[in-house]
Amino acid sequence: MTMTAYKKKLIEVALPLEAINKASIREKSIRHGHPSTLHLWWARRPLAAARAVIFAQMVDDPGEHTDRLLAEPAKRRAAERLLKSRRAAWEERKAIFDKAQRSGVSAPEPGSEPTLEEIVAEQERERLFRIIEDLVQWENTTNEEVLTKARDEIWKSWRVACAENVDHPHAKELFDRHRLPAFHDPFAGGGSLPLEAQRLGLESYASDLNPVAVLINKAMIEIPPKFAGKPPVNPQSRKQLGASGSWKGATGLAEDVRYYGQWMRDEVEKRIGNLYPKVEVTAEMAKARPDLKPLVGRKLTVIAWLWARTVKSPNPAFAQVDVPLASTFMLSTKAGKEAYVEPVIKGNGYRFIVKVGKPKNMEASERGTSAGKRKAFLCLMSGVPIDYNHVRTEAKAGRMGVQLMAILAEGERGRIYLSPTPAQEAVAWQAKPTWRPDTEMPKKHRNFQPPVYGMNTLGDIFTPRQLVALTIFSDLVQDARERVKRDALAASLPDDGKSLDAGSAGATAYADAVAVYLGLGVGRSANYWSALTPWGGEFIVQTFGRQALPMVWDYAEGNPLSTSTGNWTGALKWIERVIVTSLPASLGGTAVQGDAQNQSISDSKVVSTDPPYYDNIAYADLSDFFYVWLRRSLRLVFPDLFATLAVPKAEELVAMPNRHGNNDQAEAFFLKGMTRAMHRLAEQSHPAFPVTIYYAFKQSESDGGEGTASTGWETFLEAVIQAGFALSGTWPIRTERDQGLKTGMNVLASSIVLVCRPRAADAPTATRREFLTALKAELPAALVYLQRGNIAPVDLAQAAIGPGMAVYTRYAKVLDAEGKALSVREALSLINQTLDEVLAEQEGDFDADSRWALAWFEQYGFAEGEYGVAETLCTAKNTSVSGMVEAGILASKSGKVRLFRPSELPNHWSPQEDERLTVWEMVHHVIRVLEAGGENMAAELMAKLGSQAERARELAYRLYTVCERKKRAQEALSYNGLVQSWPEISRLARESVKVEEQQPQLF
Ligand SMILES: C[S@@+](CC[C@H](N)C(=O)[O-])C[C@H]1O[C@@H](n2cnc3c(N)ncnc32)[C@H](O)[C@@H]1O
Repeated sequence: MTMTAYKKKLIEVALPLEAINKASIREKSIRHGHPSTLHLWWARRPLAAARAVIFAQMVDDPGEHTDRLLAEPAKRRAAERLLKSRRAAWEERKAIFDKAQRSGVSAPEPGSEPTLEEIVAEQERERLFRIIEDLVQWENTTNEEVLTKARDEIWKSWRVACAENVDHPHAKELFDRHRLPAFHDPFAGGGSLPLEAQRLGLESYASDLNPVAVLINKAMIEIPPKFAGKPPVNPQSRKQLGASGSWKGATGLAEDVRYYGQWMRDEVEKRIGNLYPKVEVTAEMAKARPDLKPLVGRKLTVIAWLWARTVKSPNPAFAQVDVPLASTFMLSTKAGKEAYVEPVIKGNGYRFIVKVGKPKNMEASERGTSAGKRKAFLCLMSGVPIDYNHVRTEAKAGRMGVQLMAILAEGERGRIYLSPTPAQEAVAWQAKPTWRPDTEMPKKHRNFQPPVYGMNTLGDIFTPRQLVALTIFSDLVQDARERVKRDALAASLPDDGKSLDAGSAGATAYADAVAVYLGLGVGRSANYWSALTPWGGEFIVQTFGRQALPMVWDYAEGNPLSTSTGNWTGALKWIERVIVTSLPASLGGTAVQGDAQNQSISDSKVVSTDPPYYDNIAYADLSDFFYVWLRRSLRLVFPDLFATLAVPKAEELVAMPNRHGNNDQAEAFFLKGMTRAMHRLAEQSHPAFPVTIYYAFKQSESDGGEGTASTGWETFLEAVIQAGFALSGTWPIRTERDQGLKTGMNVLASSIVLVCRPRAADAPTATRREFLTALKAELPAALVYLQRGNIAPVDLAQAAIGPGMAVYTRYAKVLDAEGKALSVREALSLINQTLDEVLAEQEGDFDADSRWALAWFEQYGFAEGEYGVAETLCTAKNTSVSGMVEAGILASKSGKVRLFRPSELPNHWSPQEDERLTVWEMVHHVIRVLEAGGENMAAELMAKLGSQAERARELAYRLYTVCERKKRAQEALSYNGLVQSWPEISRLARESVKVEEQQPQLF
């Protein structure tokens, strides 16, 4: 491997992070046609991030090609133009610095002299950034023009790699200039990464331990290309369209999924339609509900039955009454369409009636019978508290029941909410399941609550009617498969060149393919057809609102045969849309089951992957919920994949104390397994490309103020390094904007993309001092680079781990004074320390007042402090309180001093007229204007700041890190917001200057 000649890739140098993050965040709200709507999987990576990362991992950094770039006249001319102005600015800085030196005054260093090579590389990077910025847009998912541009760049770099490695001993296998290397993700999960690799023109391989994930990947990358361009085989389409018609991509396949899905629905209606009776609106019902009068005599399709669980009242006076555990009585809170349940108590019992309009006591209706966290519920009959202990005891003794609260039906113009009827309630109990999944859920696991209430098996979290429906739907997947096979054989008879390969093998393969999507339809539906699905006011809420099976006290039991929320046909529509909209169906793909600890699929492949995040998600346990139904649907198609009764758990690389004994054992298991898995990648991946690895980072895990240390994070880094990787970059990818800031800085969710290369076999050993010296030498330039790239302050500490860890992993070992190897934790701590120092050094560029304000802010924020302390600090910083009061940044009264908040600063401030202009004022006035008037107003002010604005940005970074460390969420939000808006404000400022410059010529 060492003989390979390779270039640094773009991802090892720069990324347009802001654009990637923005697109990733935006993608979260995109549903129609998004692959995440094919079937649920937890913690999916955004496609935007996956696409950008794989692209930047395959394309050379332009810094590697400056000679070639400068040989292009246009590029050379553009670089020369920019060099001229850069050099002039640099010479100005140098002159100031030299002068200051001569007079013995301190001044910021001018930095190194800009070169043509640097500039041409920078300009070329900008061009690649534009490609990425287009590439990450959801709208461009199937935009061939944009994708072709990206693919062309990948090919360009690939040809260079092939040319440089013609003499490589394995050139034939590794460097075929006519064939890009294939891609592999060994922790493929929901399949974002393999899918995007395929879209970028690579043959794609996905493996995962979990059969559900494998199935999803088959549906995403393996099946569509096999049947691309083929017409549907169902008799209806064939009759209507013949073999003609154009079936782009996998549209033919999608059409068959629709047709055979509809056939399944109709079969279900034939077999168990009686379990979903329509509800007749009677004159009696309309007596108290004038809104129902026009519907009297009509039979309405039920959308859902709303049930509340019940337990016996703890009040001895009502010990025989099953009282409801209702989290709310509101059915709809939509303005003008309110509906609610009213419990009517009579003697020793009660009944529910449904009313429309606003309840008299809205708050009481919203509360249902719940009584806040501690007390759980209140007895409907007596108001006596019902605590969770009572609920648990009752539930475990088999005395937890359910009571129908309301019926939701399909009206002509919207939903109709009806009171429960005995007939409708009785029909639910006529359902007699012939099968129920008896897989046990984990006990004593924070993410699985039903076992706490005696619901131990997966069968317990479905109603009998749901069990009957899911069993029949699963079995019908098999029947549908037989039908597809038969129809495919019939369709293959005419030799039209387009239809399926003649013969039963082709027909069987196609039938299996259609069955996969129908099976996924069953899994998708199960998510909406359990007794853990609350009513969301407008729709049935899915079982997995989060990565857990929580207890749900009142739930909506949907009607699979309706045309409303939670119905079967709707579920299949989502799947069809994904097939048509976002699956490339072009190059080959393969999805297999495999343990990442001992796989050999990565051999000579480009690898990007996203392993489990320590103890975050219990994939295998959670996915049993789907597995049991998918297995019943598809085990004849994939006997090996569905060989076991439940999802394999033992090899799953998660740190679960309940599985491994205790926390330490869980950590040891994770470290050992992850190291082995990483080892496989370091050994096998294609030598010309770095490996990229996503790892979730949760600030809530951090210890103390450093913000980067956590067991999961450290253990993972340890595994990566032990496996023989050196880091050549780390990039924070965010999918939640500033959420952490708003909630007090402890839930910020980032993924860090680690860029890894196998560590050189002859890597040297370093002392702690050498390591520190290297950090101090290299981090400042890296930081300036990150700041110039406008990295959000909130991401700076994580992004700085990259260059820091790159230094650490350059060595085989870093030894402390006693000869002991420095741990990852210690290295991270030194990196953070150096980061702080480097940021503090930037202070040297600030004026004395700003340096004072910064130090003061660090201690007091905008709160008051003693005048004496302020004065002492003034001596150290060479300024005075009275001077700063005059400057307008400080209030000093009755022996107390405090900094003005941005909102307290004067409205009419002009930097040109300020005789004691400070960087502090610049930052806070821009924030004032930005928060009050938006980016356009802030730009006007920025234009007046001119070249001084750059220092203001540096101060904003610095202030953000202070707030982060001090956990001052509100202020942090302002500084982060300022830096985030900086590029746009600067652009607007530049434009306004240009317009102003042009004005005189216009008139
Ligand atoms: C973070 S998820 C991947 C998510 C994926 N990138 C996506 O966008 O949906 C991690 C995956 O690792 C899988 N996994 C856990 N242990 C494994 C092992 N030993 N071998 C292979 N896969 C494993 C889990 O089943 C899970 O799907």
